[in-house]
Amino acid sequence: MRHDHLITSKQLSRADIETVLDRAAEIDDDPSAVADRHAESLLGLLFFEPSTRTKMSFETAMKRLGGDVVDMGSVESSSVKKGETLADTVRVIEGYADALVLRHPKEGAATMASEFVDVPLLNAGDGAGQHPTQTLLDLYTIRENAGLDDLTIGIMGDLKYGRTVHSLAYALTNFDARQHFISPESLQLPREVVYDLHQEGDGARIREHDSLEEVLPSLDVLYVTRIQRERFPDEDEYQKVAGQYQIDSETLEAASDDLTIMHPLPRVDEIAPEIDDTDYAAYFEQAHNGVPVRMALLDLLLSAAGGETDE
Ligand code: NCD
Repeated sequence: MRHDHLITSKQLSRADIETVLDRAAEIDDDPSAVADRHAESLLGLLFFEPSTRTKMSFETAMKRLGGDVVDMGSVESSSVKKGETLADTVRVIEGYADALVLRHPKEGAATMASEFVDVPLLNAGDGAGQHPTQTLLDLYTIRENAGLDDLTIGIMGDLKYGRTVHSLAYALTNFDARQHFISPESLQLPREVVYDLHQEGDGARIREHDSLEEVLPSLDVLYVTRIQRERFPDEDEYQKVAGQYQIDSETLEAASDDLTIMHPLPRVDEIAPEIDDTDYAAYFEQAHNGVPVRMALLDLLLSAAGGETDE
């Protein structure tokens, strides 16, 4: 796999992650320093699934670097509707743009598409697979709020279909992190992910639970996720698990005062709105961190692709 495509968080070493997060922190401190840095660059957006944060924060990031975006628009209004293959679509759009961002409902779509293009391709979510740029902003938020070393994190909700969970779990094996996975049995992490995590990290640092209660007091971070209704083959199966594991002020009575609550958003009913104005809530900050983190990533990729030296 070419290193300038970002398809899975498994590609990322601790040094890669720290390079992006450090650059994001510099940009966060002084965004004006990079305002014209990529004035000639165009980012191609190919979203075959709904998106608010990911798409808009990539667009904001590219514009804040002085560049612009070309957007395929909705599947309904594109040639995909006429039966164009993904391979043909990406080969055409790579001719218009310096880098591509792809979101697709099929797991593996980003890997396949990356084989047809020479410009960097960023996976913005492939089905229930991976979402590595979300992971970078998640790690940035964790580093700001709790630190990435000696971390105890609970990851809760839809661990089976949640691509943000899969990406985050792999990336955290680069750090001194204890990961507690909390879900109903039917939504546990896929067994191959658990197997891989044991291979990649120190397996003793990974635990699975069906209740939050037993681990909540020990957590520095609780990462809550939405049940991915659109990925359930059967609506009845979704109804069986919908509404489980909701967080409200009563749940948090047993939590540490320093707990940081995160969520990739959108939320449905996993976190009660009463939590939003407490010191626990970091999920809106997390969404905002998508801009400096994606600016950092695009800056590093476009500078490398264009042969620019730093600064
Ligand atoms: C997530 C996704 O698309 O996987 N959203 C996002 O990018 N912030 C999470 C979700 O849809 O539940």
